[in-house]
Amino acid sequence: MFNVAIDGPAGAGKSTIAKLVAKKLGFTYVDTGSMYRAMALACLRAGLTAEDEEKVCYICEGLDVSLRYDGNGAQQVILNGENVNAYIRTEEVGNMTSAIAVYGPVREKLVELQRKLAKEYDVIMDGRDIGTCVLQDAPVKIYLTASSRTRAERRYKELMEKGVECNIDDIEKDIIDRDYRDMHREISPLKQADDAILVDSSNMNIEQVVEHLVGIINDKRK
Ligand code: DC
Repeated sequence: MFNVAIDGPAGAGKSTIAKLVAKKLGFTYVDTGSMYRAMALACLRAGLTAEDEEKVCYICEGLDVSLRYDGNGAQQVILNGENVNAYIRTEEVGNMTSAIAVYGPVREKLVELQRKLAKEYDVIMDGRDIGTCVLQDAPVKIYLTASSRTRAERRYKELMEKGVECNIDDIEKDIIDRDYRDMHREISPLKQADDAILVDSSNMNIEQVVEHLVGIINDKRK
């Protein structure tokens, strides 16, 4: 199988870009953040806070998380038989996810599932630890980033379009806090792999990033 690993901080556009690149090249897109999000949702529903380490790990170990693809090829996350895609994109779930993703038992199960998918399909997989841990042997690794201000501006625009009142400075602070947590945790912190190609999308539009990545992947596949 030919696998592509894409890592980078929150809001760098990984999922938007990876989805488009996967479509262009006929790869299966795997959004690993949504798997962690499904686990965080289950913990929130159980009334837990992230500090309840023992209970969080216990609950997560008992969960069944899997992926399904709908008719348009869009990834759906299935949590204990329920499609939870509609519930995992909130700021509350995002913050809980980053907080529980520091626990080893939460990660182990999902890493196993991610490696299994990469053995079965040509995948473009995005996350935080794909190039450094999950798919260490991937022939193409991309580290996609953008400045925290640019990422906050993109998120602000997205929320305003949905009619959600928000403040750009608060969004940027949330992004910086989440980056810090993801980059400084003990297990599998977010880090550019030594053999990853750095792509800074601060001054690029979506099409430019997609074309750039398609070029990198096609070069490697030759
Ligand atoms: O990519 P995302 O915003 O959906 O990810 C949500 C959180 O999940 C992120 O803050 C860190 C965590 N995560 C992780 O620890 N490892 C991954 N491979 C993917 C996401």
